Amino acid sequence: MPIPVELANTIVNPIAYQEGDPIDDAFRTIRRDMPFDRAQPENYEPFWVVSRHADILEIERRADIFQNSPRSSVVTPAEQQQMTRMITGGDSNLIRSLVAVDGQEHKDLRGIVFPAVTPKAIKVWEEDIKGIAQSFVKEMLEKAPECDFATDVAFLYPLRVIMRVLGVPEEDEPFMLKLTQEIFSSNDPELNRSGKELTPEENLMALVQTKADLEAYFTEVTKKFRANPDKHVNSLIANAKINGEYLNERQLMGYFIIAATAGHDTTSNTTAGAMWALAENPKMLDTINADPAALDAFVEESIRWVTPVKHFMRTAVEDFEYKGVKIAKDDWLMLPYQSANRDEAVFDDAFEFRLDRKPNKQVAFGYGPHVCLGQHLARMEMKQLWRELFPHLKTLELAGTPERTRSNFVCGPKHVPIRFSVN
Ligand code: HEM
Repeated sequence: MPIPVELANTIVNPIAYQEGDPIDDAFRTIRRDMPFDRAQPENYEPFWVVSRHADILEIERRADIFQNSPRSSVVTPAEQQQMTRMITGGDSNLIRSLVAVDGQEHKDLRGIVFPAVTPKAIKVWEEDIKGIAQSFVKEMLEKAPECDFATDVAFLYPLRVIMRVLGVPEEDEPFMLKLTQEIFSSNDPELNRSGKELTPEENLMALVQTKADLEAYFTEVTKKFRANPDKHVNSLIANAKINGEYLNERQLMGYFIIAATAGHDTTSNTTAGAMWALAENPKMLDTINADPAALDAFVEESIRWVTPVKHFMRTAVEDFEYKGVKIAKDDWLMLPYQSANRDEAVFDDAFEFRLDRKPNKQVAFGYGPHVCLGQHLARMEMKQLWRELFPHLKTLELAGTPERTRSNFVCGPKHVPIRFSVN
């Protein structure tokens, strides 16, 4: 049964993600009644919605058939996709980052940064990150009894961490934060470039300008690191060669942009959402402070809970039959990670934040050849922050109603007002 148009409209509607309940309700119905079916929201080309955990894993596993690059790798209105192809000369993705390439090119590009972000490799950053966590915790504690945890801590700490790893100076962080929010939150008038709601055309034009600002910045970065290579990830990217040649302009810029944007907004949303959950159930603090293993569980559950990357899209490059469903070449598929992470078949009390999930099979980092490159860094930095903060918190509660970003792609809480006292 095709997905009714109201439900199809909901799962692409940034406001449904901002409000929270409408999106949970929509995917709950879809998982139950039409788990792998066609949706055609108004103003969008049709796509399959792969709503269940097991099916997302299976589609991601078959990356030879279900590829990222042929059509937009993020759900985009039909008009905006068409205009994007005109601007790029045929490419459906405005930015050719790792999530918009496939096959050997993807393998080669991914291989440039992969060795620097393994659990072992990121240990070189551990002390540095601990110092950053301590400085943010100190500033937060000085704000007692109240702060907006999202804007005061969650959006700044992961930004500082990733910029340190990339080799971006602290004075450039506000610029990076602003441009990242313009990319991921282009539907949110509070965070986008224009301060108002945008039509698909205006949205695309704003993205083109943001991309141009980032490219101007990274052109200088490339010169700097080619002249003086060092251990930072931006230096690895600037100096990388495939078959003896530096990356071409689109590959180079796409790489810098994904590392500088995906590298903090995702973790920031997760950190903000974790604090929201904790402030609603501060008893968890006692459990975590008493048992270091509970901290790991808290971080993993907060990743499931927030699922900051709401979806990615895939395109079938040949006809394929999956569990009796006939998928045609060129069909577009949505992988809604948030739905997978609330799948009742995998998670007991899927709508509860629980510290005792063992194992926690959350799929917020994706799966298969495109699985998140920064997952170990994200976990490590969140653990460092909580380790520094939690022993200081005596009491904790919400001091107002948290608010989420208006976006159907990367998003989470943008305001988390809390009241707290310090030990
Ligand atoms: C809680 C934090 C994060 C979440 C939930 C997250 C989620 C994701 C997801 C869902 C994907 C796509 C996976 C797929 O298609 O199967 C992805 C890819 C990626 N992420 Fe993350 N991410 C996070 C943090 C980070 C950080 C800290 C970095 C930077 C160090 C990063 C860099 C990347 C890159 C470069 C890719 C593209 C990988 C590829 O296509 O091969 N992410 N991430």
